[in-house]
Amino acid sequence: MRNRSLVAPHVTAKRVFLAAVITSAMLGSFALLGAGCGGKKPPKPAEPALIDTSADAGPPAEPEDAGPPAPKSLFERLGGKDGIDKLVDSLVQNVTADGKLKKSFSKVKGEKLDNFKKSLSDQICEISGGPCKYQGKDMKSAHEGITINDAQWDAFVQDFSAAMDENKIEENEKNELMALFAPLRSDIVGQKKKK
Ligand code: HEM
Repeated sequence: MRNRSLVAPHVTAKRVFLAAVITSAMLGSFALLGAGCGGKKPPKPAEPALIDTSADAGPPAEPEDAGPPAPKSLFERLGGKDGIDKLVDSLVQNVTADGKLKKSFSKVKGEKLDNFKKSLSDQICEISGGPCKYQGKDMKSAHEGITINDAQWDAFVQDFSAAMDENKIEENEKNELMALFAPLRSDIVGQKKKK
């Protein structure tokens, strides 16, 4: 037989026979154990080593109970920076045409007007949770010497409210924005005239 050539010459035929009998007996008993015929289960074969595939597994699946999406910030509900720029344009038109305010704004023209609009837009953007950073003066310094009285404050608030209506900003958003600006009143109103 071909297999005989694989047996070392010093192994006798008897030894080969004995080894074959023992091996087949052992294999037979493992087969029986594996078939569940009593006795202990054979140990599980070792698990293959785990390979970390997280790097290329893509983003984790959305958990099923993620709940409703996060509510939109006031900034987003105002229409983002574009919406706020339009709101500021309307506000400026209103205050410069307002009999109670136009004198105070008479010198706010050209570059000064552009800066005022940019400052106000950045301020509204920041205060409403947007990504801008207001870099103008604090409210006390910005209105120093303008001597703004209660009637002018009320007129400004009305013009602001009208500007929001013109830009179809809903009541909720109007109230939220007004509430954010209300605390600035004490810094803006009633300052002494500049000498
Ligand atoms: C919620 C109320 C108000 C806000 C948020 C506000 C905001 C601002 C801001 C951000 C500036 C520009 C500051 C800078 O760029 O450094 C400014 C300037 C000015 N504000 Fe107001 N303001 C308010 C009320 C008023 C009122 C009631 C008046 C009434 C007259 C007024 C008159 C002015 C004037 C005339 C300037 C220009 C000052 C200058 O450039 O010389 N503001 N305001």
